[in-house]
Amino acid sequence: MDSSTGSSRGPAGFSTQANALLRKNLCFQKRNLKTNVCITLFPILLCVLLVLLQGAIDREIDKPKYRCGCACVDAAADGTCRRTECGVQYSTLDQVASCPIPTPPRWPALVQLPTPESRAISIASQPFDGLPGQTCRDAGSCPAAFLVTGANRSLAESLSGQLFPALSSPLNFTDYLGALSKIVPGSDTTPEFRQLLEPAFTPGNTLYIVQPQCRSNLSQTVLFNAGIIPLQLNVECIQGLMLWRESESIVNDELFRGYRQQRESGREKANEFAAGYNFLSTNKDSLDISIWFNSTYSNNTAFTEIALLRVPRLVNMASNAYIKFLRGSGVEMLLEYVKDMPKVGTKLKFDLSSLLGALFFTWIVELLFPVVLTYLVYEKQQKLKIMMKMHGLKDGPYWMITYTYFFALSAVYMLLFIIFGSMIGLRFFTANNYSIQIVFYFIYINLQIALAFFAASFFSSVKIATVVGYIYVFGSGLLGAFLLRFFVEDNSFPKGWIVVMEIIPGFSLYRGLYEFGQYAFSGTAMGISGMEWTNLSDPVNGMRTVLIIMVIEWAILLPLAFYLDQVSSLGGGLRKRLLISLKCFKKRAASFRRYSFGRQGSKVVVEMENPDTTQEREVVEQLLLEPSANHAIISDNLTKVYHGKDGNPDKLAVRGLSLALPKGQCFGMLGPNGAGKTSFISMMIGLIPPTSGTAYVHGMDIRTDMNEIYTNMGVCPQHEYGLDLMIFSV
Ligand SMILES: *[C@@H]1O[C@H](CO)[C@@H](O)[C@H](O)[C@H]1NC(C)=O
Ligand SMILES: *[C@@H]1O[C@H](CO)[C@@H](O)[C@H](O)[C@H]1NC(C)=O
Ligand SMILES: *[C@@H]1O[C@H](CO)[C@@H](O)[C@H](O)[C@H]1NC(C)=O
Repeated sequence: MDSSTGSSRGPAGFSTQANALLRKNLCFQKRNLKTNVCITLFPILLCVLLVLLQGAIDREIDKPKYRCGCACVDAAADGTCRRTECGVQYSTLDQVASCPIPTPPRWPALVQLPTPESRAISIASQPFDGLPGQTCRDAGSCPAAFLVTGANRSLAESLSGQLFPALSSPLNFTDYLGALSKIVPGSDTTPEFRQLLEPAFTPGNTLYIVQPQCRSNLSQTVLFNAGIIPLQLNVECIQGLMLWRESESIVNDELFRGYRQQRESGREKANEFAAGYNFLSTNKDSLDISIWFNSTYSNNTAFTEIALLRVPRLVNMASNAYIKFLRGSGVEMLLEYVKDMPKVGTKLKFDLSSLLGALFFTWIVELLFPVVLTYLVYEKQQKLKIMMKMHGLKDGPYWMITYTYFFALSAVYMLLFIIFGSMIGLRFFTANNYSIQIVFYFIYINLQIALAFFAASFFSSVKIATVVGYIYVFGSGLLGAFLLRFFVEDNSFPKGWIVVMEIIPGFSLYRGLYEFGQYAFSGTAMGISGMEWTNLSDPVNGMRTVLIIMVIEWAILLPLAFYLDQVSSLGGGLRKRLLISLKCFKKRAASFRRYSFGRQGSKVVVEMENPDTTQEREVVEQLLLEPSANHAIISDNLTKVYHGKDGNPDKLAVRGLSLALPKGQCFGMLGPNGAGKTSFISMMIGLIPPTSGTAYVHGMDIRTDMNEIYTNMGVCPQHEYGLDLMIFSV
């Protein structure tokens, strides 16, 4: 050891430290070129994958199967086509949706009827009044039952008797709209998204005529021309049954119990009614009704409002009956047809990036997390940080520079990501307001860096940190997509719990990206732009909450990470460090003398030591009692025990080393391998904490004042040159 010439150098300036650290970081990145290339390629790979999938979907959607149907209307003699025409009349059900419809067809208004096997009957478990038994089901001839209630029973019954006008003459299908408006037609098909095509009139389906009593001659198959579309129709009679119930609650109860259910055998059992009427307080002066109808008659749960298409006839039945009741059976109120509004031709659109984007992009953005984390843990594992501190790097500059460095790295990465995504035309990026996106990513990358700093305190091995980091990335993405997403979309799930889940940064990222995706997707479908600043106040938009959560979390995590780092730099395991930091204030106040009492137990050893050692020990004891400025280093009974692992006994590396080195002296330490030279130097430079005892460098304790000691010290570690060299200057 050298306590040399006397000219003390001050700590390096900020710019020097920044410069050196930056060079070191760049060097590190250059060495990890392969990893860096992979990380840069990953987003590009995912984006390209998205584009390819999107292309495949677009091609599939663009197939004639989904394009408005066309047909040749004017074929030349040689078989070539002179004129093709496109439109609804040439389309299948799949194609209709994309046709332009300047004059929508008129359709008779129908009532929704339950399918033959689920129409209400009287069974043992549900013995409803007035219903036929099981036999009608076997024959497929069950009536369509309607429940009726009201304040005035006689009035309600006489009105409901008029609900299904009986057919007086055979149906005349040349004027099918007029003919069907005078009676009640119904269908058990599921309605379409829009009433551009009424599925009841497509081949293979049956049009039911609801009658008070069925006559056998009504069943027929008719061919007729509905405007432009030639139709083939099976017409059948179905008996309409009006059942009086005493109160609204009874009607509710019977409707409820009849709901289709999956029974043990796996077969569906149902006892469904077609509709229910409550004539409330209807009298001669006013018609007052409420109607029960089933809005779930649709394959597509997202569009339950479709079933409303078959409600107009139910209303008309009641008003028609009422006017007959008031003015006699000669007066009618007819609903001739229903007709949708005209529409232009559309193209099916499906934006995959908005749908899958949230998951893919969560992975891409989070990918930087393990990079930052492993870097930080690597510095710790390789003791690079301590080395740098020995060479004059202070904590403040280290943090500022490292943070700025990773921020710059993340910002460039995110910027490239947005630019690349926009360039290849992903709606996810182009549809949403760029300023919101930039603010969101800006906040998130800050949070992510803070999180990495925080997490780094808990790892000491790069391998474990890497594994945990990547598990976090892929796990939080998948959990976001398959758990959080369902909670978000489930309106009954408490919003508070979603906020709690979003405290996990991966989830808040997923939620934000999910919102971008949703806005881009619905924007694409409706031909408008995605998320704007004004949308932040939409009640379903979780973006504002996410932004707030992330900012708060960042403000908490960063100081916490800094604190943990400070504590851990004192050496030893984290738990121990936490304890030390709590006791820290007391210990700093303690004087040298206190430590000289701490080693009474080692007296026995002293007796057996050789005279030189004993003499040195006495010098140290004397110095501790009367501190003198003449000694650069005082080692007081410094001991290091490595605890045995896997059943091996503990190994005593340094045994109670006492040493006093005057200033201006050069001290060399010789010894065979395993004598404890390196352990001693490691303790002196703060790499490992002493098991007991301590040492003082210029009066500063190596257990607590390492940061100040570093400004006076230089070390050349063994693994580079085969010998340790430690230099303290005064
Ligand atoms: C029920 O309606 C009938 C027919 O309009 C009427 O004659 C009778 O007074 C009403 N009964 C009550 C209790 O209002
Ligand atoms: C309403 O319609 C759905 C779908 O067809 C059916 O499962 C359900 O049983 C119906 N509910 C009632 C009360 O009839
Ligand atoms: C609804 O489902 C039935 C049977 O599951 C099917 O035959 C029918 O085509 C579907 N309708 C629509 C509009 O998808």
